[in-house]
Amino acid sequence: MPTPAASTAAIPVASRVHGFTYAIRNIVAEAKKVEATGRRVRYLNIGDPVPFGFHTPAHLVQAVERAMRDGQNGYGPSAGILPAREAVANDFTARGVPMTPDRVVLTSGTSEGIEIALNALVDPGDEVLVPMPTYPLYTAVTAKIAAKAVYYRTDPNHGWLPDVDEIRSLITPRTRALVVIDPNNPTGAIYPDAIKRALIDLASRHGFVLLADEVYGDLAYDGPTPPMARLDLDAPVISFGSLSKAYLAPGWRAGWMAVGQSPRMADLMAAIRKLADGRLCATVPMQHAITAALTGDRSHQVSFRQALRERATLTTDRLNAIPGMSCVAPSGAFYAMPKVELPKGRTDEDYVLALLRQTGVLCVHGSGFGTPASQGFFRVVFLASPAELGEIYDIMAGFTKEYLAG
Ligand SMILES: Cc1ncc(COP(=O)(O)O)c(C=O)c1O
Repeated sequence: MPTPAASTAAIPVASRVHGFTYAIRNIVAEAKKVEATGRRVRYLNIGDPVPFGFHTPAHLVQAVERAMRDGQNGYGPSAGILPAREAVANDFTARGVPMTPDRVVLTSGTSEGIEIALNALVDPGDEVLVPMPTYPLYTAVTAKIAAKAVYYRTDPNHGWLPDVDEIRSLITPRTRALVVIDPNNPTGAIYPDAIKRALIDLASRHGFVLLADEVYGDLAYDGPTPPMARLDLDAPVISFGSLSKAYLAPGWRAGWMAVGQSPRMADLMAAIRKLADGRLCATVPMQHAITAALTGDRSHQVSFRQALRERATLTTDRLNAIPGMSCVAPSGAFYAMPKVELPKGRTDEDYVLALLRQTGVLCVHGSGFGTPASQGFFRVVFLASPAELGEIYDIMAGFTKEYLAG
């Protein structure tokens, strides 16, 4: 073959990237432009408690430090170090889901677990049921692997709960997984056991996997919500958790997945292990913090939950007082999903971008989580101090009044 002439054409990008969108971070580019003009930006877009003054518990930091000093800096087993997998398994067992360490895989945050599970489970053209609104990683990964995300609605008029009959009607022979996020990001909803049981029953009967995203499980304001898998120990459930939220260490990328004991998932477990081998292992020093977190003092969670409840109440009170805005009270986590009655022809993104450009307050539009753009939903992260949130909600009230008038 003759040597081609030198080319300056752009290197083409794989088509799978086009469907991969993650609004929570994508919108930061807009915020940076606003910051470049000298305006302060208040970042209410990312669910990271650390920049808002919630500190990683000292015994977790010490566990990582000690591991590094002790030379635990080499690769570890692909599934994760045994003491940490034992800690995860014992934690599930104590919460009513008998679990053995061989069913646990430690991952780079819940995110990697979600990606591995979907890759192990879903072929191109297969369907994954995801909530609307959803945490956007699910739709992004589903798009990347050329599968189809099928939204099931959750209803703000019913506390953002799903409708089991609607979900049943969406099941097809290609349905491979049902994503349940509880407590929920972005809505803050917690589903009653009856709904969770019905969803597990659907998974069991129809032979698909329930992906139980429990990253906020310990952040329900009334105390930890038990793992969904405990409602039916034989059901095909994979549970996901991490140190990111309830243990205040999102930057460590330390998470786990626990694959239920159902013999129906033996092949899937093997596939997950195979995929985990390819990425060698999750960060080893941080795995020592998983052991410390799940076997040690968790009293920080009590004050964290209190702080979140206070902010949730402030958020719903203040946003519901803004004419044209309504907000369902969250029951867990640090998100609320208010709705603004948009003037005809405007989108949620128009509102969020105008709010950012005029006031420096950065939220994420609901369509980034899958709600129709005309419905006017957007997500607020309420981790800032009550005093700062008060200021921000004053700013939002002033801006919204003008926006809706204009
Ligand atoms: C519902 C949900 N799942 C998963 C994740 C990813 O978390 P991790 O840091 O454990 O990867 C997040 C992060 O915001 C989330 O909100």
